[in-house]
Amino acid sequence: MTRLIFAALFSLALTCCSSPQAGNKQHYFISNVKPVLQQHCLRCHNGTGPGLNLSTQATAFVPTVDGRRYLVPGDPDASLLIQAIQRNGTHPKMMPRDLLSLTEDQIGMLREWIEDGAVWPSDKSGQLSHQPSGEHPAH
Ligand code: HEC
Repeated sequence: MTRLIFAALFSLALTCCSSPQAGNKQHYFISNVKPVLQQHCLRCHNGTGPGLNLSTQATAFVPTVDGRRYLVPGDPDASLLIQAIQRNGTHPKMMPRDLLSLTEDQIGMLREWIEDGAVWPSDKSGQLSHQPSGEHPAH
């Protein structure tokens, strides 16, 4: 009897926690990462200019012309995106950090997302466009 209960609990645990992993990570992107990038980065990084294009998963993972990577899944410190938003001063290629107006929390959230694999849905939910307001866009 106890064995049966254990078996039942075990299979319940499996169905509850193993399969939705990928879904949770996509959800993390949609509800946390996407709004911040859309509000603070897409005005410029939308494919109309040279360099980083954060419009879709496919474009965001294209490396720089000299082979550096904006996003290195699992390694925020190696990711040019994190390096760039953590810069305090000016950079020949980039505005100072205070103009980006990202909070420490938002930077930490982006670090966590990359650390956790930088999951970015390749379907419509992963398509980004500039959202000037702080409101969450429909997705
Ligand atoms: C006002 C316009 C503007 C905004 C807003 C902006 N950027 Fe940039 N950024 C640029 C330009 C211009 C460059 C130089 C071209 C390039 O390398 O993409 C650049 C460069 C970069 C680079 C490459 C730096 C390097 O060393 O090569 C990264 C990474 C980057 N931006 C990330 C971001 C992120 C993340 C955001 C949002 C938090 C953001 N940018 C917001 C204009 C902008």
